[in-house]
Amino acid sequence: MVLRSGMVLKTKRGAFTAQSKLDHALDRVKMTVCAPVQREECSREGHAMIQLFHVSKTFARCVALRDITLRIDKGECVLLTGPSGAGKTTLLKLIFGTEVPDEGQILVQNRNIARLRATDVPYLRRTMGFVLQDFKLLGHKTVEENVALPLIIQGVSRIDLRRKVADALKAVGLERKRGSPTIGLSAGEQQRVCIARAIVNNPVILLADEPTGNLDMDLTLEIIDLFKTIHARGTTVLLATHNPYIVERMKSRVLELQGGHLVRDSGEQG
Ligand SMILES: Nc1ncnc2c1ncn2[C@@H]1O[C@H](COP(=O)(O)OP(=O)(O)O)[C@@H](O)[C@H]1O
Ligand SMILES: [Mg+2]
Repeated sequence: MVLRSGMVLKTKRGAFTAQSKLDHALDRVKMTVCAPVQREECSREGHAMIQLFHVSKTFARCVALRDITLRIDKGECVLLTGPSGAGKTTLLKLIFGTEVPDEGQILVQNRNIARLRATDVPYLRRTMGFVLQDFKLLGHKTVEENVALPLIIQGVSRIDLRRKVADALKAVGLERKRGSPTIGLSAGEQQRVCIARAIVNNPVILLADEPTGNLDMDLTLEIIDLFKTIHARGTTVLLATHNPYIVERMKSRVLELQGGHLVRDSGEQG
């Protein structure tokens, strides 16, 4: 039936004029047309992955970080450099939410991590992977079991777990070692297990604390290339290192800390 102006349409939900029906239809069209625009605005707003505003952190009387303001966007690969004691590990822990700032705000994926409900914290953590400085592997457990650990804690189903672990091991080239206890692996392989464990949840952000600190130069190169590959897949990477060779090889934006101050941001304009 064609609705003409002035006609009244009687339905179970009441009577509508042709005009009201037309307005309703137009509203729906507008909503559909506008929706992508809103999403676009949202994604532009949501470009920032990590933001710190005037963040400071003190341990007892030791100031680890002073008044740090920075922003890391989606898809960036950023190196965090500076000498030992500069505050690199503290910064990563603050972003991961295992330390709390004394002052300032930290937004991860546009969410103020200080204001998260306790139930939201595990969800946010799942979107981040953290490669720790010391491997912290369970030596007598197999590669597969170590990588599966975060998924077991979350209660992921057995089928999903197998698939995710297999994908992570493939990404780091350790499929053939999956049944081996990690205690018998080389340092490079152990670091690959750590990286697999950190990416098993397909995180949007990967944090890494001196991931090549215990490796020789060849293995360092392998691990750095692995981070590059993970970054190329779209993951935002923040990697702490005091190794100038890595800084040179990665050709990425560099944030430099000294004595808790951010003294350089190679990505900053002007
Ligand atoms: N849990 C802690 N208790 C006391 N002091 C700490 C603690 N964690 C870090 N610090 C101090 O904070 C400063 C920054 O440490 P850290 O973030 O580990 O630096 P980096 O990773 O660059 O070596 C150092 O002086 C360190 O001794
Ligand atoms: Mg450190």
